[in-house]
Amino acid sequence: MPLSSSLLEQVRPYTLCTPDRLENLAALCIHLNQEAVPGDFVECGTYKGGSAAILSKGLGESRHLWLYDSFEGLPPTTERDGEDAKAWIGECVGTVPDLKAVMNAVGTSESAYTIKPGWFETTLQHDLPEQIALLHCDADWYDSVLLVLETFYPRISPGGCVILDDFGYWEGCREAFYDFCQRHGEKPILERVGPDQAFWFKGRSHNRQVIPGIHADQYVPRSSLQETIVQLESKVQFLNEQLQHTNQQLQHTNQQLQHTENELEFVKSSRFWWLREQWWSFKQNTGQVK
Ligand SMILES: C[S@@+](CC[C@H](N)C(=O)[O-])C[C@H]1O[C@@H](n2cnc3c(N)ncnc32)[C@H](O)[C@@H]1O
Repeated sequence: MPLSSSLLEQVRPYTLCTPDRLENLAALCIHLNQEAVPGDFVECGTYKGGSAAILSKGLGESRHLWLYDSFEGLPPTTERDGEDAKAWIGECVGTVPDLKAVMNAVGTSESAYTIKPGWFETTLQHDLPEQIALLHCDADWYDSVLLVLETFYPRISPGGCVILDDFGYWEGCREAFYDFCQRHGEKPILERVGPDQAFWFKGRSHNRQVIPGIHADQYVPRSSLQETIVQLESKVQFLNEQLQHTNQQLQHTNQQLQHTENELEFVKSSRFWWLREQWWSFKQNTGQVK
């Protein structure tokens, strides 16, 4: 279910998610609406709001969107998150105005969503949505992901969906998933999109009935034609930039040439040049040069 390119363009400055992951979010919203799975949509890890804006377009008639983020960037890591994660502490700082701006840009009214700013350790303590159809967990670290799953999983409806944005990217996220499953005896069928995203449907025990547009093996994020157009567009942009650069170099070379011609003209009209000419003709006349 490819998203319109204009919607993707609108959210692009507000998200770290790749188009295939955003397209899968949109496809999951459509599926949950078609199946009338009851509950709201929740996102933990909203940053500037790009993925939240995509979810907001898939709310359908009666759902509400709950958005949780510190708006102070990523918290400290633990050993489980690995060495590379340390460099990201305090990064990914979104703001509430960023979030509202992208919601506005895609035409989502403020009544459709609730923003819960602050650390999950505080905001997940009270006033939680009663029933959830979709949980988008884009919170990167072990502690954050585990807390999100522990808090919201019991509220997810049968057939509802959990998406882990960082399953293949951050080892802490993957470990939190497996630790959570072990604690609760869960054995989800983990579906994958690209190298990072993973998702599953609560209570689904087999894939003998495939869900069109959802299952990874059937999932085609863009038609090959769209893919080719995108590649060609970026090639044209690259060539245009090169052409511009070459034109600038040509202009510079022309200016230098003009400068040199002017200098030559000046030298030729000088007394020195006249004497030089006289000297050469004297040498020729006296047979000193041929
Ligand atoms: C990768 S960003 C989210 C990206 C976003 N979904 C997008 O569309 O690009 C991760 C976010 O998780 C938030 N986060 C992680 N752990 C948190 C915690 N314990 N409490 C509050 N926010 C947290 C960070 O503030 C950060 O904005």
